[in-house]
Amino acid sequence: MIRLEMLKKVDWDFAEASTNTATNAIHPYPAKFIPQIPYHFINELTLPGETVYDPFLGSGTTAVEANILGRNAIGNDVNELAVLISKVKTTPISIQRLDFLNSFLDRIRKRIDRYYKGKESEISPPDIINLNLWFKDFVIAELVVIKEEIENLSYQDLKDFCLVGLSGVIINVSNQDSDTRYVRVSKNINHEDTFIKFAKQTNKLIRIMSGCYKQLENGHSFFKVADTRKEGIFGEYSADLVITSPPYPNAYDYHLYHKYRLLWLGMNPYSLKKSEIGAHADYSKNNGMTEFDFQKDMEKCFLNTSSILKRRKYFVVVIGDSILKGQNIRNNEILKQAAQNTPFSFVAEFTKNLNLRKKSLNSKKKYKNYLWD
Ligand SMILES: C[S@@+](CC[C@H](N)C(=O)[O-])C[C@H]1O[C@@H](n2cnc3c(N)ncnc32)[C@H](O)[C@@H]1O
Repeated sequence: MIRLEMLKKVDWDFAEASTNTATNAIHPYPAKFIPQIPYHFINELTLPGETVYDPFLGSGTTAVEANILGRNAIGNDVNELAVLISKVKTTPISIQRLDFLNSFLDRIRKRIDRYYKGKESEISPPDIINLNLWFKDFVIAELVVIKEEIENLSYQDLKDFCLVGLSGVIINVSNQDSDTRYVRVSKNINHEDTFIKFAKQTNKLIRIMSGCYKQLENGHSFFKVADTRKEGIFGEYSADLVITSPPYPNAYDYHLYHKYRLLWLGMNPYSLKKSEIGAHADYSKNNGMTEFDFQKDMEKCFLNTSSILKRRKYFVVVIGDSILKGQNIRNNEILKQAAQNTPFSFVAEFTKNLNLRKKSLNSKKKYKNYLWD
């Protein structure tokens, strides 16, 4: 109870707080946590050495905060890119190893230079649907060279690190409007811009990792690509705290916004489409899914999560409202209903005013953190 009293004293608005702490800024991700939210719950509700689970891992903010605080982290997501980003965000890489990337960037620069001088041997584009509609020919050539050089790196942690760097620039150099708008637009992209952006991004990632890799050594992480509705995902593990921010009905289409990132990285947006909860594409149609479908999905997730969480431990959910067929949907109420047929009982809620400087998911200005045990 004392710990709950401490949590009630926290100002959950974090209006002035930086979200770029530790490795949290290495890749954009829609509906990312403010890192201070998982930080406070983990700090108050677990002890060093214990395990924190996030069943909707996203970009791994929960895991980063857990590791920094000396807790271990487990997590799963249906988005392969989410799992890769989370892995990179929580895998410490020493400054000595990061130094290999100077010669790596140099090799790419030389090959791209040769390509524009007509001296690079034939470049074969990957077999990706409608590639030429979404990328200029010379952008494709530069991306192919970058991808090949990443594959030639000797260490898996550096490969993953550079793939996240590459993913971070793909939308920027494509004809896709933005991370959260799957519409083709004309962009002013010139020769070598793709390499320049990738090099800049990689150097940013190197700076971030060099500044915090020692903090990441405080804990271990383990992630899986898996659907939280399926039983037995982490049969071999148990957790001392669950903290998560689930997908909202009708909010995002992760498979669509990340489609070309996933395809370039050799991942599968089509299987993500089938398993993603809450996708706008499923909920926006007139005869599409409803809040009851969301409730059923979340009930399965609660049940499966209860088999991983130790007894008398807490389950924290951070959720806001969404708009479904013009109606405001109170997702907190849906989650309370979903939890009723599971072993969890409701404990407390904490309200947060949305930071008005930032784009919000929906028209409501508040969202809440809910706590079950
Ligand atoms: C709101 S985001 C989580 C963001 C995360 N807290 C962060 O800080 O980046 C919700 C996540 O749920 C994932 N998701 C959707 N359906 C899922 C399912 N059936 N099983 C597991 N993850 C799912 C989405 O891919 C997305 O990454």
